[in-house]
Amino acid sequence: MLNIIVFGAPGCGKGTQSERIVDHFGLHHISTGQLLRGHISRQTELGKVADSYISKGQLIPDDLMLDVLAAELDEHPAEIAKGVIFDGFPRTIPQAEALEQLFAKRGMTLGCVLGLEVPEEDLVQRIIKRGQETGRADDTPETIRARMAVYHSQTSPLCEYYKQRGQYRAIDGSRTPDEIFADIKSELEK
Ligand code: AP5
Ligand code: MG
Repeated sequence: MLNIIVFGAPGCGKGTQSERIVDHFGLHHISTGQLLRGHISRQTELGKVADSYISKGQLIPDDLMLDVLAAELDEHPAEIAKGVIFDGFPRTIPQAEALEQLFAKRGMTLGCVLGLEVPEEDLVQRIIKRGQETGRADDTPETIRARMAVYHSQTSPLCEYYKQRGQYRAIDGSRTPDEIFADIKSELEK
């Protein structure tokens, strides 16, 4: 069972590459951002709370995020057993520690963390373009700035966390999606 984390700043290509990994390796994709946007569009209670953070580019609180993740894992036992791609989770050190405990409890192990590394100017351009094309609500210039700041202060320390554990694999995410996926494929086939 292959469980991996696709990691990186907003707009680095986590969702794009996760879809390719799903198609090729048949893993189950869990994007915490997508789960939260689903709650927002269904106007659930959780969605209302999530929206108040996402619209400002802030992270939703760790305990709430963990509840959402645990519920998602409970809901799809057969798919989870095939292996999971975690996209957008963990995003803080406490989330990474909680994931470790959750794995231990469920007899899951972490294969590796694929870190998609892209220069910040490129990230901002990609997200602005997507905002214009799809109207994703948090793809506005002001919110993008906040998301980048949150990434630097709360999420990027996870690079060091996983490097220390020998689990971080740096991937140059500034190339074409095909070139990036070719690297990911050879990394996962090792
Ligand atoms: P989330 O949905 O995870 O957003 P994000 O991390 O900001 O990342 P994006 O989805 O914007 O980008 P991506 O890396 O998936 O790139 P994509 O493939 O789409 O989270 C949203 C919010 O939810 C957070 O801000 C937070 O509030 C909350 N949240 C989520 N998880 C949380 C957690 N664990 N804890 C607390 N809060 C949480 O690509 C981006 C664009 O670039 C696309 O248009 C794509 O077509 C294009 N593109 C992709 N690859 C390339 C390429 N190689 N070259 C050129 N363009 C490319
Ligand atoms: Mg995404």
